[in-house]
Amino acid sequence: MISTISNLQERDLKHVWHPCSQMKDYEDFPPIVIKSGKGIYLYDENGNRYIDAVSSWWVNLFGHSNERISNALAHQASQLEHVIFANFTHEPAILLSEKLVQLTPEGLNKVFFADNGSSAIEVALKMSFQYHMQKNKPKKKRFLALSDAYHGETLGALSVGGVGLYNEVFQPLLLDTVRAQGPDCFRCPFKDKPERCNAPCLSFVEEKLELLHEEISAIIIEPLIQAAAGMKMYPPVYLKRLKALCLQYDVHLIADEIAVGFGRTGTMFACEQAGITPDFMCLSKGLTGGYLPLSVVLTTDEVYEAFYDDYDTMKAFLHSHSYTGNPLACRVALEVMKIFEEDNIIEEIQAKSAYMKQIASNVFCGLPYVGEYRQTGMVGAIELVRDKVTKEPFPGCDRIGYQIYKIALEKGLLLRPLGNILYFMPPYVMTKDEISLMIERANDAIQEFFAKYK
Ligand SMILES: Cc1ncc(COP(=O)(O)O)c(C=O)c1O
Repeated sequence: MISTISNLQERDLKHVWHPCSQMKDYEDFPPIVIKSGKGIYLYDENGNRYIDAVSSWWVNLFGHSNERISNALAHQASQLEHVIFANFTHEPAILLSEKLVQLTPEGLNKVFFADNGSSAIEVALKMSFQYHMQKNKPKKKRFLALSDAYHGETLGALSVGGVGLYNEVFQPLLLDTVRAQGPDCFRCPFKDKPERCNAPCLSFVEEKLELLHEEISAIIIEPLIQAAAGMKMYPPVYLKRLKALCLQYDVHLIADEIAVGFGRTGTMFACEQAGITPDFMCLSKGLTGGYLPLSVVLTTDEVYEAFYDDYDTMKAFLHSHSYTGNPLACRVALEVMKIFEEDNIIEEIQAKSAYMKQIASNVFCGLPYVGEYRQTGMVGAIELVRDKVTKEPFPGCDRIGYQIYKIALEKGLLLRPLGNILYFMPPYVMTKDEISLMIERANDAIQEFFAKYK
């Protein structure tokens, strides 16, 4: 079904340049034309349906074409679609700010709007830097980032990223970032177990801070899961101790919860599990339940006050995007927050996560090429390795994950890989039966691939 080229596919390939793709791959694997979506399913133009196991790039929370969210959007569209956000405001942005301040960790009282994840990262980096300039700490002009980090693909965000695939070619253009080895629980250099460790690997960050803290404005991290690196998971104690180091060395902590926020890790925000308040929290993706691009950066009164003065002191944060605080997106986000509260979604996530972990561990852990099945909240990852004992990875050029992804599509499952890691990050509306079906199809695809692999 996938290789038959339809008229729309042909026309797509004439003009559309797809993201994160080698366009030559589309010669024998043209883009699937999706006509509609409902719940956990996407339907293509030929009537095939696919379980959206990756929530369409981690954005969808409550299913495609969700009635409540669609209605909220339609109603808002009939009232106000957009308005300039400098000197003007509107109810959806005000209510959303109030709600986000209430939901996020104590002390994050100010909300700055942007319109996608990478832009939120740019905002947080710039705010941290400008804060320190205005506090007479001009030496603090570098950021500390972890190996394997991913924070988006604008130049600032790429500068604090650690996944070579995305930033290597741009190195000459990037900021001079301080890099520290991040946590790696699957191949732990200390041979520790995440359930009982006290994050000895934080020493890599501590060494850099000790040496360079006077130059460092902020540390940026993905709390609990380094998502794009292959759903690399680490325990809350790492975050808790990191926050203490930030206080000790007068360095901001930027929590990039763009992928993990809004319940993915089993709590509303990953930082909750460590009981910490970062100086900046970046949110996007699930914020609008997968409907519209929107992002926010939450910060503290202390940061806000460093910018608050007469205009001619030039202390204002002069950063803007045309679609900042878009009313449609804010209204949709408000509806998403209402669903969380009214339908006790966090409890539901916890119950479904436990179920998913049990089934998936049983199915995947015993397979010959599965090094590990790991899960935090409702994010599960299967790490494929050449050797189960040594954990030797497959060579990247084999593109094993990509080949399994193609087989899974034939079986009606959208299971986009990250290198040789396959993962589940499904919408929360997925039922237990559907969770079982998703796991069964993933297992079938993996088995089918390895039956032929030499
Ligand atoms: C942790 C994290 N930060 C930032 C981003 C960038 O978000 P966007 O793709 O909306 O620019 C992503 C996207 O996957 C992400 O996973």
